[in-house]
Amino acid sequence: MHINVFTQCSPSPQFKGFWRHQADRTATGYRSLTYWVSLARKLELACVDALFFADVHGVYDVYEGSWAPAVRHAVQIPSIDPVLVIPAAAAVTEHLGFAVTYSTTYHPPYECARLFSSLDHLTGGRIAWNIVTSYLSSATLNGLGEYLDHDDRYDRADEYLQVVRALWEDSWDDDAVVRDPDSGTFTDPDRVREIGHKGRWFEVRGPHQCEPSPQRTPVLYQAGASARGLTFAAQHAEVVFLTLPDPAGGAPQVAALRRRAAELGRDPRSIKILQGSMVMVGETRQEARRRAEEYVKLWDGEGQLAKWCGWMDFDLAAFPGETPVSEIASKGSHSFVGFLKRLGPEREWTVDDVRYLVSTARRPRRNSPVTLFGTVEEVADRMEEWQSVAGVDGFNLIPCPTTQGIDDICDLLIPELQRRGLFRTAYDPAQVTLRQRYTSS
Ligand SMILES: Cc1cc2nc3c(=O)[nH]c(=O)nc-3n(C[C@H](O)[C@H](O)[C@H](O)COP(=O)(O)O)c2cc1C
Repeated sequence: MHINVFTQCSPSPQFKGFWRHQADRTATGYRSLTYWVSLARKLELACVDALFFADVHGVYDVYEGSWAPAVRHAVQIPSIDPVLVIPAAAAVTEHLGFAVTYSTTYHPPYECARLFSSLDHLTGGRIAWNIVTSYLSSATLNGLGEYLDHDDRYDRADEYLQVVRALWEDSWDDDAVVRDPDSGTFTDPDRVREIGHKGRWFEVRGPHQCEPSPQRTPVLYQAGASARGLTFAAQHAEVVFLTLPDPAGGAPQVAALRRRAAELGRDPRSIKILQGSMVMVGETRQEARRRAEEYVKLWDGEGQLAKWCGWMDFDLAAFPGETPVSEIASKGSHSFVGFLKRLGPEREWTVDDVRYLVSTARRPRRNSPVTLFGTVEEVADRMEEWQSVAGVDGFNLIPCPTTQGIDDICDLLIPELQRRGLFRTAYDPAQVTLRQRYTSS
């Protein structure tokens, strides 16, 4: 089983309002190296595969046509750049991987290639790139380029991948760096070449600016779950992060992704699929119940609305309540509408339904969609069910509440999974790079 822990360099990474939890250290710690370094150490002691960083560009300004609700409730703002945290966290760990989100829409590919080569060197081959096409149109108001239509962003991302792969894989031979003091040659220019890319979106001559790093290409992650996102994942991704409602409802999506990969000539099992689930565990039923009550109290409905409207790029406050969401054209993420279809295939989801679903705190239960809730044993049982019924390879665990949730994953849940023989008790020293960890199990 592969386990990642989800985070973001912002006060309340996934669920809004939880920065108010009494044991929270994330809301202030997110901007300090001490916080990230101690988190990395903790995750490595628990043998976690990787720390996963979400990230966005721009501000959530779609809900009520204003960024004020997002700013008020810390909806991914304020946030700092996760890339800067990684070398420090890598310096105090040996095995923990780092998966970082980076947008193909808002950064040029030449710079992306150099950044990930740098991270791969500095982490000794422990870096993964969560490839996103982005959904916040507000980024374009800050000079970050053009907000294309949904599918065009993916078409552009396909070409983007062609460019960065060529820079990583084709530009430098393994033995290009000779460091020969006698001839005064550091790098043999005959073993370095331009890539000469000229396409619809990009012109990149090369050569790549970095010598080959341990993995050359970072482990490629992908998280978009629309039909177009699925094809992109099937083509490029080595690890896919899905948000499926429940094991039985998610199985067809997992099968569809593997099928699409096979159609594109890939080994379907070579793609590792991680379910993104909120996790909230208690040592006892009573403790789990107490946490569920706390969850309801901390939940911040307006913050959640600001987040989801930005994600979908349509304003739930701007449509009559009975409007079917499937009829609202959106340039944002299409994944959520697909999620609703899997949640209730027969149902016509309206704006009112979604507003309720997104903003209302519901007490977590053992079978709540997406959620891993209950005692440690119950959650471990559910994880086994996810693996056997849905066919996922592991989890991107979203700790809730943030700080205590991380402690619970490391101190309660992982030891239980280890007792069951489901999760490693030590890193395999033969697996030096993050890719080796994914390809050998
Ligand atoms: C589970 C999940 C996590 C995501 N995390 C991020 C993120 O951190 N930053 C980001 O810009 N996009 C993120 N995305 C957005 C997608 O990767 C994708 O670019 C976007 O959703 C549009 O594509 P889609 O319609 O296929 O979802 C995430 C999507 C999903 C489903």
